[in-house]
Amino acid sequence: MKYAHIIGWGSYIPDRVLTNNDLAQIVDTSDEWIYKRTGIRERHIAAANETTATLAFEAAARALVVADLHPSQVDLIIVATSTPEYIFPSTASQVQDYLGATRAGAFDLSAACSGFVYGLDMATQAIATGSINNAIVVGAETMSRVLNWRDRGTCILFGDGAGAVVLKGSAVPGGVMASTLRSDGSGGDMLSLPAVYHNPVPTLGVEYFQNGHHKNTISMDGRQVFRFATKVMSASIKTTVAKAGLSLDEVSLIIPHQANTRIIESSAKRLKISPDRFYLNVQNVGNTSAASIPIALCDAIDDGRLHPDENVVFVGFGGGLTWAASVVKWDVSPPTISRRRREWKRARYIYARSRSKAKRWRRKVVDRFSTPPIPEARLKDADKE
Ligand code: ACO
Repeated sequence: MKYAHIIGWGSYIPDRVLTNNDLAQIVDTSDEWIYKRTGIRERHIAAANETTATLAFEAAARALVVADLHPSQVDLIIVATSTPEYIFPSTASQVQDYLGATRAGAFDLSAACSGFVYGLDMATQAIATGSINNAIVVGAETMSRVLNWRDRGTCILFGDGAGAVVLKGSAVPGGVMASTLRSDGSGGDMLSLPAVYHNPVPTLGVEYFQNGHHKNTISMDGRQVFRFATKVMSASIKTTVAKAGLSLDEVSLIIPHQANTRIIESSAKRLKISPDRFYLNVQNVGNTSAASIPIALCDAIDDGRLHPDENVVFVGFGGGLTWAASVVKWDVSPPTISRRRREWKRARYIYARSRSKAKRWRRKVVDRFSTPPIPEARLKDADKE
């Protein structure tokens, strides 16, 4: 039995900032309303040439540098996302290609804002059974592309970004100690994002579009989601901490899905602990769905909030409905990598990526110059005709 330790982490946030005041130019809202009700001041929006896959790649590459692993050592890439560009190829396969991680399996995971914790548990189980040894788990979203920018109840909440961790198997006890994954599909309509090919198709043709069925945007019953979130967050933290054989007092930091400061404050009240034990960065990034926990983890490390031998809890909730929590024994110190060494590693990654590109070109060349042979029998039939 192996333990899955987090040995690398990285995040990527697009440059473009959208403040509450900017939003007040788009919908009937104000900085005061948004900040008071959500704790959000600003969020980041992906540039036209950025996609969920490119954000995920940047975060994964940074995590690999911290982990000191070469892409060819990665066995599995899981990308938790609700905003993939394609159903297939998966965002995870795109990241695998961009990294040049030529020996990795890759798949996307759909569990909305709980997706990162789900992915962490899947990779942990694969490591524990000995099926794999190294995995990258990414949460990545371009939420700005699935928002209805006329709905002030949702467009003020979300932002774009990606975060990733690298997990490594080891016989040393520690790392991801326990997880709880849950779903309640009966609440699916409280928070939903239809697929572009949404069924059933009522009438084909112009009417199909007039009925608004082409719209692939988020809809949400904010109050109901709020009530659900406060309830499940505190319950899943309690269950998972107990599963890990710990008491709440032994947990140093809780990194929750960053949706709303009030949800976190209510959960702290239910758990009878200080809200200071929850890490918050929602004010600067908004709700980045599956990306929110790994982005917050990276910020918490940068802020010096995590130390070796401390226990940390990740807890997420979201569409599905889904919710999930993990307890991790944090057993790594941020590495001190010299600039030269970091550059050298990046250069090795560029080489790994170029191998992947070379493969694509080779396939094109082979395709151009080789015509598949026509079976003998069919040639004879054609002669007869
Ligand atoms: N600006 C100004 N007024 C607004 C805005 C806005 N952006 N949005 C709503 N209002 C108005 C409403 O119209 C309503 O007005 P009325 O009383 O005249 O009808 C009033 O403010 C109160 O509306 P509520 O919806 O009751 O506001 P609430 O305090 O519940 O806050 C919010 C809304 C912030 C959405 C809250 O319900 C919430 O955070 N819910 C949880 C959402 C969440 O976490 N979702 C993510 C889950 S993760 C995932 O999987 C994607």
